[in-house]
Amino acid sequence: MGKLALVAKVTHVPSMYLSEMDGPQKGFRQAAIDGHVEIGRRCRELGVDTIVVFDTHWLVNAGYHINCAPHFEGNYTSNELPHFIANMPFEYDGNPELGRILSDECKAQGVDVLAHDATSLDPEYGTLVPMRYMNQDRHFKVISVSALCTVHYLNDSARLGWAMREAIEKHYDGTVAFLASGSLSHRFAQNGQAPEFINKIWSPFLETLDKEVIGMWTRGEWKAFCEMLPEYAAKGHGEGFMHDTAMMLGALGWSEYDQPAEVVTPYFGSSGTGQINAVFPVSPQTGAGIPEPQASVVQEFKANASRL
Ligand SMILES: [Fe+2]
Repeated sequence: MGKLALVAKVTHVPSMYLSEMDGPQKGFRQAAIDGHVEIGRRCRELGVDTIVVFDTHWLVNAGYHINCAPHFEGNYTSNELPHFIANMPFEYDGNPELGRILSDECKAQGVDVLAHDATSLDPEYGTLVPMRYMNQDRHFKVISVSALCTVHYLNDSARLGWAMREAIEKHYDGTVAFLASGSLSHRFAQNGQAPEFINKIWSPFLETLDKEVIGMWTRGEWKAFCEMLPEYAAKGHGEGFMHDTAMMLGALGWSEYDQPAEVVTPYFGSSGTGQINAVFPVSPQTGAGIPEPQASVVQEFKANASRL
């Protein structure tokens, strides 16, 4: 029925908002903003009606959650970086129908996902910043998915991504884009050193690791990347423990994904963190690469261990 037309990993650095303001930093994040505008343009061209954002600023401590309120409107100030994003107005339409379709299919596939359509919860800036540059005219409906998952398995996030793709293909009458909104390495500069690292990565180790990973993405080395993702997420300080990336790759077919990524905004440093805008072409998939539920793997391991 429906179609997943575009998938991208996107930056959402608050300095993009600062870049709009008059002052010494005016325009310094233009490349990132232009990347968002380009992804928005492609979504329009592809007939996308709703953008689903895997938001690494929505922290959850149990389950997975979808914010699919019918309408979002407010004036946002970041609690993490109130000197970067303050009083940013936003207004977007949501898509409660698609939110329920996504959660129903996730549940059917064994992933515990709750859709919230009657909620006062506003989206976090992992959703609001990309929407500011892709969706100023409210052309797209917006859904936000929790992707700062504190006690979750990456395998389950990959399964969520695949279930959401199947939900669209089987049950939705429309065209959708998925955005994994998060960085690569995400080690902020130590307090007091932020100005020095405004356009830099925190350490040569993290910069080298990120660049190797981007090389794997652009060469399409997905089997190897999926295998190393849990270790990369931990040792590379991945934002949101890289659950956005696992969700995105799940939607693309995980280890069976077969396309090279296209870099739209080249890798850049921001307050110590590693950032990028990249598009991942959607290809036909059977789901054969999607990992088993992690919980059952753990149970099997425990069962085997008890027999030793
Ligand atoms: Fe972030």
